[in-house]
Amino acid sequence: MTELQLKDLNEKLKGHFVVIDENAYKGWHRFFGGNCFCIKGGETIKDFKHAERLIVKMLKLGIKRSDTIVAVGGGAVLDLVGFVASIYMRGVAWINVPTTLLSMADSSIGGKTAINAGGIKNIAGSFYPPKETIFCYEFLQSLDENEIKNGFCEIIKTALLDKKLFEMVDNDEDLKTIIRECVRVKREYAESDLYDKGKRQFLNLGHTIGHGIESVYGLPHGICVAIGLDLETKILGTAPKKLQAWIEQKTNKAIGQLPNFDIDIDKVARVMASDKKNKNGINFVCLEDVGICKMVELEKEEVVKRWKKIN
Ligand SMILES: NC(=O)c1ccc[n+]([C@@H]2O[C@H](COP(=O)([O-])OP(=O)(O)OC[C@H]3O[C@@H](n4cnc5c(N)ncnc54)[C@H](O)[C@@H]3O)[C@@H](O)[C@H]2O)c1
Ligand SMILES: [Zn+2]
Repeated sequence: MTELQLKDLNEKLKGHFVVIDENAYKGWHRFFGGNCFCIKGGETIKDFKHAERLIVKMLKLGIKRSDTIVAVGGGAVLDLVGFVASIYMRGVAWINVPTTLLSMADSSIGGKTAINAGGIKNIAGSFYPPKETIFCYEFLQSLDENEIKNGFCEIIKTALLDKKLFEMVDNDEDLKTIIRECVRVKREYAESDLYDKGKRQFLNLGHTIGHGIESVYGLPHGICVAIGLDLETKILGTAPKKLQAWIEQKTNKAIGQLPNFDIDIDKVARVMASDKKNKNGINFVCLEDVGICKMVELEKEEVVKRWKKIN
């Protein structure tokens, strides 16, 4: 992980093809030269159509297998460009520069790339780590409040996987210190298990219900994860009561005021049951205490029964 000031980024990226999120570019274009290709941010770009467009653009620009491409943006741009990097001419090197809180604290680390297809999130993807990840914290200044909330929800999740980060979040330490620690924890979990067969799966804490709600209601990823963290802890009931209360309080504070909506439990459970990671029932990361998790599998009917009981 490299930390740079924005004024030094252009020099560092000189000669590379740079794909940049247009909202990140808007606020900071004075720091970029003419070699940028602006792309809309957000989930809708994570598809084969946008991947193909990017590939065609790269072909036209004469990008070769020995070149390096750069992704500057939130998780969506990083996922799309990383995916394209992994398949263009069977793989070109890439660098990522996260510009949202969520992408700094989470998605830029661990080497997963993905696009969506057939209405299923991240169904096509690859494990393809960038050769470098560059942090310019100035990007955080142009994010709106909702994007900060969204990223902070994912930080709460990571904090539940590590005692030191948990203390930092509990003590409301400054954001940059928390991001650095978050990167350390994500690295520890992801890099010890690149292909997601063991410990790395714990990073999906809160994501079983989170992804279900995200698919059905289209709310931002981090917000859904926060709702998932609270509900899963209550449904599984294995974390100490004091920790359950901490999760409820922290996630409520991070989410803030949500538009009032009743979750259709049966509908969300149906989506959860169709997840690619399931074998027989629905897979959950079960939190026993800070930094202590195990995988559990519950029948869909059991999940619905427990969920309706706590509702
Ligand atoms: N690969 C992984 O390991 C991994 C992990 C977690 C999440 N993800 C993916 O990340 C995506 C979510 O990422 P995200 O929350 O960063 O959302 P995002 O990329 O959709 O960005 C959110 C919004 O912020 C804007 N934006 C980006 N940088 C900005 C800046 N500096 N100033 C102002 N606006 C800016 C974007 O244009 C967009 O409108 C999802 O697609 C999710 O699946 C991937
Ligand atoms: Zn997530």
